Amino acid sequence: ETKYYLVDKEHPDKRILAEAADILRRGGLVAFPTETVYGLGANGLDAQAAARIYAAKGRPSDNPLILHIADSGDVALLARRIPANAAALMARYWPGPLTIVLDRTDVVPDAVTGGLSTVAVRLPASTVARELIRLAGVPVAAPSANTSGRPSPTTAQAVLADLSGRIDAVLDAGPCDIGVESTVVDCTTPVPTLLRPGGITLEMLLETLGEVELDSALAESTATPRSPGMKYTHYAPAAPMTLVEGAGAAAMVRRKVTEALAAGWRVGAVVSAETAALLPSAVVKAVYGPRDDAAAIAANLYQALRHFDACPVDVIYAEGITESGLGLAVMNRLRKAAGYRILQA
Ligand code: TXA
Ligand code: MG
Repeated sequence: ETKYYLVDKEHPDKRILAEAADILRRGGLVAFPTETVYGLGANGLDAQAAARIYAAKGRPSDNPLILHIADSGDVALLARRIPANAAALMARYWPGPLTIVLDRTDVVPDAVTGGLSTVAVRLPASTVARELIRLAGVPVAAPSANTSGRPSPTTAQAVLADLSGRIDAVLDAGPCDIGVESTVVDCTTPVPTLLRPGGITLEMLLETLGEVELDSALAESTATPRSPGMKYTHYAPAAPMTLVEGAGAAAMVRRKVTEALAAGWRVGAVVSAETAALLPSAVVKAVYGPRDDAAAIAANLYQALRHFDACPVDVIYAEGITESGLGLAVMNRLRKAAGYRILQA
């Protein structure tokens, strides 16, 4: 049985947070809101508690977890050294949607880092998250609170749809503001490396750092069609999805869904409001927002991908967006959700 607690986003009830923190301290699992997505928390210094996270999510144990802290000073417990680049990023973007990879100390269990010599650390901006971590009195290991491979949850309802009965509690503070996960930057390399685009944009990183390397996995995630591999299946909706990229995306989505309908398929579309208005009424539409508003699209993206859980279709077409600002994170998630089935328009 999963306990459900409704809390106010700005002024959460201290007694509820204290109860949730107690569950964490005793080795239990608590899903909680952050400004990005809901996290599945456990005591980050307790290897057994971390192991429960992997079991509840069905997550491969070599995919390391992020440790969440309540004060930037707490990073000293977890990281062997803080390079100047990392310090500059922390000063500028913490608290916020930025995760920094650093050389780890011995207090960090192997179960958290998947045996790596580095650790990923994040100081979230969300009041609920920070108060919970503070009351727990330990760093909180927290991946996104979804079943492995599914879209990340941006509401408590999405958490429960995946994990009800598998975790001890969920704190519900309503929908997350940003809607895509934190940016992950590896600061153990001479030039910091962007591992995952997210809430802090590449443009924002460059402002502080001057230069940033793109991880090869990102640099390679070009528009070339690639065979889907298990390794790449993330954020996947309930039917196979094809992503259409480029300036002609809207028109090609329109053509593809029309062909698929004619072939007798039940067809879904993950599209902008502008494109949705032009699609046949038989298409199941998951609208992610206005085409030129990447922040709104990020905030709605995972709910749009989960739309087909309740409205079954056979095939899905998604409309790509421009890769500036939050658009880079949105396109990274859409490409993974499509298993790299990509068409150029
Ligand atoms: O916004 C977020 O980051 C959310 C909320 C809950 O904070 N958490 C999240 O966690 O997205 P998760 O586990 O879904 O994603 C963590 C990412 C993974 O891509 C993982 O491979 C990477 O961070 N990561 C963790 N530790 C790492 C390390 N030591 N080196 C490189 N990558 C690491
Ligand atoms: Mg995740």
